[in-house]
Amino acid sequence: MSQDLGTTKHGTTDVPVEELFLKRWSPRAFAERSVENEDLRKIFSAGQWAFSSYNEQPWRFVVGRKGDSVWTKIFDSLTPPNQSWAKSAPVLYASFARKTYSHSNSPNRAAAHDVGAASAQIVLQATALGLYAHGMGGFDPEKLRSELNVPDDFEVGFCWALGYRGDPETLNEQQKQMELQPRHRKPLSAWVFGEWETPAF
Ligand SMILES: Cc1cc2nc3c(=O)[nH]c(=O)nc-3n(C[C@H](O)[C@H](O)[C@H](O)COP(=O)(O)O)c2cc1C
Repeated sequence: MSQDLGTTKHGTTDVPVEELFLKRWSPRAFAERSVENEDLRKIFSAGQWAFSSYNEQPWRFVVGRKGDSVWTKIFDSLTPPNQSWAKSAPVLYASFARKTYSHSNSPNRAAAHDVGAASAQIVLQATALGLYAHGMGGFDPEKLRSELNVPDDFEVGFCWALGYRGDPETLNEQQKQMELQPRHRKPLSAWVFGEWETPAF
């Protein structure tokens, strides 16, 4: 590989935080190497322990491995730009959110929030195992819903590519550039407030 991306992509903070948060990033180049079943179980087991409103656990994930029909259904729903790099990912999975509480059938305003929390735990456990995940909003949700027979009571969430990092040289020029550039974040002062729009720290 042309460059040590572990350094280029590594997050930075003014004060020390757990390494896992800084190590995670979203690659587009994935290696051919497949993901062990046991590792997939570990990854989703981390999601199992996310918090959720009323402990509803509104998340559902549908997981496909390259070569199986679920992988193909998720892949077919992706936009062409996402397909052009996600084609090398050994695992594609999609998230869904139950829109109502099971105890009352009333709308669960926290559903998407809680699926996001589980998704983050899943991705961070993958990071701990040396794997990388890349979220995708560029797909056709209704096509995916229909292909995967998702009931109406579930919101279609997002698609994810998962695997080991690959060689950026396999990407097209624009993707390669994104793969090699450093990551950026807003400073805390822009989003952690004491009074509204007044930095907390
Ligand atoms: C819900 C969601 C949707 C995203 N959609 C896409 C997408 O369709 N295509 C893509 O290449 N990246 C997509 N991304 C990746 C983001 O662009 C990426 O997470 C962001 O630029 C921050 O980079 P980092 O994850 O490397 O820190 C998505 C990420 C999330 C969480």
